[in-house]
Amino acid sequence: MDRILIRGGARLSGAIHISGAKNAALPLMVASLLTDETLTLRNVPDLADIGQLSSILSVLGVAADFQRSETATHTMVLRAKEIASTTAPYDLVRRMRASFLVLGPLLARMGEARVSLPGGCAIGPRPVDLHLKGLEAMGATIALEDGYVVASAKGGLKGARFAFPFVSVGATENLMMAASLAKGTTILENAAREPEIAELGTLLNLMGGRVEGIGTSTLTITGAARLGGADFAVVADRIETGTFAMAVGATGGEVELLGARPDHLGAVIPVLEKTGLTIAATNQGMRVKRNGARPKPADITTEPYPGFPTDLQAQFMALMATADGTAQISETIFENRFMHVPELARMGANIEVNGQTAIVSGVERLKGAPVMATDLRASVSLVIAGLAAEGDTIVNRVYHLDRGFERLEKKLTACGADITRLKD
Ligand code: UD1
Repeated sequence: MDRILIRGGARLSGAIHISGAKNAALPLMVASLLTDETLTLRNVPDLADIGQLSSILSVLGVAADFQRSETATHTMVLRAKEIASTTAPYDLVRRMRASFLVLGPLLARMGEARVSLPGGCAIGPRPVDLHLKGLEAMGATIALEDGYVVASAKGGLKGARFAFPFVSVGATENLMMAASLAKGTTILENAAREPEIAELGTLLNLMGGRVEGIGTSTLTITGAARLGGADFAVVADRIETGTFAMAVGATGGEVELLGARPDHLGAVIPVLEKTGLTIAATNQGMRVKRNGARPKPADITTEPYPGFPTDLQAQFMALMATADGTAQISETIFENRFMHVPELARMGANIEVNGQTAIVSGVERLKGAPVMATDLRASVSLVIAGLAAEGDTIVNRVYHLDRGFERLEKKLTACGADITRLKD
């Protein structure tokens, strides 16, 4: 298993190209199940999760061609001329929760689907009850058999009004896609508002669908008899952007994040500014800078968009580990999303966890140590800590990183970091 070796202490300086957003690209790829025409997605990141979803889609009958490019962005061409199978098997689905998104589109197009209950990052129980309740509201019959969700809607799905009891990104996406091929109009209340949802809504409209209320918490979706192909470029990854900004916060230096969308980091930028970063929008993205002094403390609470994203909580904790003072970090989206805490502690961080809140008392300097990645975002928080630490850090279980960060070592090395992958 690959490991990453970081010799800490270098300031970051230069430019980093921000990749397309993984969490946008995944549902967009799944939307290929809704049409027999070709869907071309540009600016797709080259990540293990993207490859994993391609494998699942190809079992279902989608011809997926990933055209990698060394110089430009990568393109994914998908075509589900015919659905070859309506079963998404356990072996593939268990590795990634986002694969559960195939349920709604398969059911809407074929009137039946059998999808294994998902796995994914080990961050709390992460049930799929909202996905199922929403589809039931649209007329689906759902049973659980041998770890599989077996869904049918023989006469087709019907538009319905469904109010989410709390915000779910995945369930909103699943229902948006299902509703786009349902009969009649679906109204989703308390829907997620993440930029990734807006991306999916925009794509569905390009495919001939009708999604209204994009960017608000009420989505009105009028079903179409059929949808067509489209050509669409994936938005820049706001989580990757925030991660690199926090890395600069931890090491000091100045980096331009090319292609970044500061408007998608509305809750993050003011917090980073509070910690002492200078952030400015540029023609090409945004510039992040920190001079000299230790980061100042700032408190955060994770919330659905437009709040502070849970996917940046671990990285922010790594930044606060060396703050000149005490910061309070509260996680409200996932249970058990503090698995990076004991690993950061191995590097000398002083963090006390009390239920869903962590109190981080910044130390002057972290110390390099062997650490273990436990999930996708936790693993990159250890990289940030390692970049800022004194001495060598080895991050084990790097496959978590490869799920969500494209060419991480290369991007950081180009900015002066001393980071290498050790191949076993
Ligand atoms: C997506 C993101 C993930 C991010 C998360 C929250 C993708 C591929 N993944 O995950 O990176 O951390 O949003 O921003 O886009 N829940 C239920 N029942 C359900 C669905 C969700 O109880 O049916 C709970 C979850 O356990 C969690 C909360 O709702 O506690 C939010 O989950 P959700 O927004 O659905 O996250 P994902 O779509 O899985």
